Amino acid sequence: MADLAPYEIARLEESPPRVVLLDQRRLPDELVEAECTTAAEVADAIRAMVVRGAPAIGIAAAYGYALAAARGDDLDAAHAVLAASRPTAVNLAWALAQMADDPTPEHARELHHEEVQRCRAMAAHAAGLFAPGTRALTHCNAGGLATAGYGTAVGALFTAWERGLLERVLVDETRPLLQGSRLTAWELERAGIPHTVIADCAAASLMAADEVDCVITGADRIAANGDTANKIGTYSLAVLALHHDIPLYVVAPTSTVDPATATGAEIPIEERPAAEVTARFPARNPAFDVTPADLIAAIVTEHGVHRAPYDESLAPARPAVPLAAPAR
Ligand code: MRU
Repeated sequence: MADLAPYEIARLEESPPRVVLLDQRRLPDELVEAECTTAAEVADAIRAMVVRGAPAIGIAAAYGYALAAARGDDLDAAHAVLAASRPTAVNLAWALAQMADDPTPEHARELHHEEVQRCRAMAAHAAGLFAPGTRALTHCNAGGLATAGYGTAVGALFTAWERGLLERVLVDETRPLLQGSRLTAWELERAGIPHTVIADCAAASLMAADEVDCVITGADRIAANGDTANKIGTYSLAVLALHHDIPLYVVAPTSTVDPATATGAEIPIEERPAAEVTARFPARNPAFDVTPADLIAAIVTEHGVHRAPYDESLAPARPAVPLAAPAR
């Protein structure tokens, strides 16, 4: 398996102090790193999607906060600028809350290591949902790039492949920024997993033609009732999957579960620049949508496979730390 090492995706260097990120905007054509020397620059990199994917932006924020501490910068200001960089993934707030009492580089690296361990645990649980010969469809990128190591939904595909359970993967290209056709396809190619990129709008007819056994995605925020925000287009897939009697599995660490958000209606949805869709005409660019819990066959965390009702099954797995910024 030729997956990237976690430090190749995001790391904190100390002399001189800087956060180094693999620039995901340049993939798959070029492996180029971006350097950030302040928390504000890390926030800019998160906003510009140099680093993206819910767990990975949490890790980048943790490194950005540790960078601010190492530089002797104002930590409240660092927290504010990092927390505001992208609104939907709760992993950002979660990682900053984790860092509050110990903003050292070692602690940030420990969080990073633990998040990758969570990915491997949830992938092992999720692979148990695959029957031999499974033909999966995935959306966006929930691989190692999105988690700074191994991945959630794509991690599950890696593990299912290693267990001989996966036949091949259909990869939604994922308009407008093409995380599927640029990043997921690249990761699957490096892992030697058979895959085919499809236009997002091809999913329905391929489901109707009986070419899809399951849909598997990551998540940016899972509300207490199991409603799940993920990349725009996930909700469409969930409706299609229900119509074709295909299970939709969501794979995410508990850092993505937000017990303070009761339902999906309360999840803030990022509206990105219209120019990412078209620079010629007026455009809307909501970056995420919410899939209602009743369209999700199972949510898989590092603790195992959770089934509806999710407010009961997820409760023991929720993070115990408060997500609000502590008074300093
Ligand atoms: O806008 P992005 O690329 O950050 O969106 C990423 C997704 O929607 C992923 O599916 C999600 O963050 C899960 S990553 C393990």
